[in-house]
Amino acid sequence: MAESTSPIIDLHNVSVTFQSNGKSLHAVDQVNLQIQPGDIYGIIGYSGAGKSTLVRTINLLQQPTSGTVTVSGKDLQQLSNPQLRTARKKIGMIFQHFNLLNSRTVLNNVEYPLLSQSISKAKRQAKAKKLLELVGLGEFEKSYPEQLSGGQKQRVAIARALANDPDILVSDEATSALDPKTTNDILKLLKQLNETLGLTIVLITHEMQVIKSVCHHVAVMDQGKIIERGEVAEVFSDPKQPLTQNFVDSSANVTEALDQIKSDSSLQDLSANERLLFLKFRGRATKQSLISDLTELYKLKANILFGNIERIGSTSIGYLIIILSGETKQLADGINFLNQNGVRVRLIATGKKGVKQDVKTNIS
Ligand SMILES: Nc1ncnc2c1ncn2[C@@H]1O[C@H](COP(=O)(O)OP(=O)(O)OP(=O)(O)O)[C@@H](O)[C@H]1O
Ligand SMILES: [Mg+2]
Repeated sequence: MAESTSPIIDLHNVSVTFQSNGKSLHAVDQVNLQIQPGDIYGIIGYSGAGKSTLVRTINLLQQPTSGTVTVSGKDLQQLSNPQLRTARKKIGMIFQHFNLLNSRTVLNNVEYPLLSQSISKAKRQAKAKKLLELVGLGEFEKSYPEQLSGGQKQRVAIARALANDPDILVSDEATSALDPKTTNDILKLLKQLNETLGLTIVLITHEMQVIKSVCHHVAVMDQGKIIERGEVAEVFSDPKQPLTQNFVDSSANVTEALDQIKSDSSLQDLSANERLLFLKFRGRATKQSLISDLTELYKLKANILFGNIERIGSTSIGYLIIILSGETKQLADGINFLNQNGVRVRLIATGKKGVKQDVKTNIS
């Protein structure tokens, strides 16, 4: 994707302030966001970060308190109501709870957005059928939403969102109610639509796995602001902000493992020559036999309590939680050796006379 093309979505200094109980809440705070055509752009953040409010400004379902919203070269706030209605048709949306009409068949749901258009019923239905086939639900046209699984309902919602041939699809937690396999299937479908239709996708989620599997770019949102952004592989392989680091760690199950290990009472028994360490490897360091080097070079023993490798783009990030034991001097040298070889080492606990000390020192 050439950076020189003009963005299809250009949010300039967009803020949304809500007044509630006499207080101002800055749900979106001075956000600048440019999304290139054909991109799959993820926005990740915890609940209340302002993600939904931000993406609702893209079609002015949410009017910004200040700032400008330019989509496909048009300043949306300058459009007349009919012009805005036309512009909105080019921005499809899907949500966590599908929002299907339960009293209508699957086919009727998909053709619904086309009812206001002056095209014949036959053409409308042909279009809806084609879209159902595109999302893999060709034989379900006569079913009702309640007869479908969550994944199938989301496919119907996607087909409906595509009815007006949008240039942009906004997905607001569309996979949050789905199991992991169905989530993957839906994400694959989105990716396929991105590739075959050239659809620009803005995808909101609180799960890093979702971003990792389909997005090219990501913005991390916290308290109404974008705190970090860039190419997915770059942002997640070298997070600058603690919140981004949190997303990476929980995605690799590291946070959970660390909590479990820290609460393990046997850690009380760490002896003076033992260190509980959290090691993080990146890129080259994941390909070296550093743990066996510790044994050979420093006569240290490593007892592995947890290990995982995350692949982000072409980068591997490895995590190990180990108890390293040996002579005091050798321990210090061994840890230095790890540091020198690009491993980030965090000392979680050290044993002293049988008393656990959670020193949490970052000694990298
Ligand atoms: N219409 C509204 N009136 C007042 N406050 C609102 C309104 N809509 C959202 N907010 C507040 O703005 C903040 C951001 O909400 P938003 O729904 O955008 O967050 P989010 O990141 O999408 O969260 P979630 O992951 O839970 O969906 C929250 O504190 C929310 O309570
Ligand atoms: Mg939301």
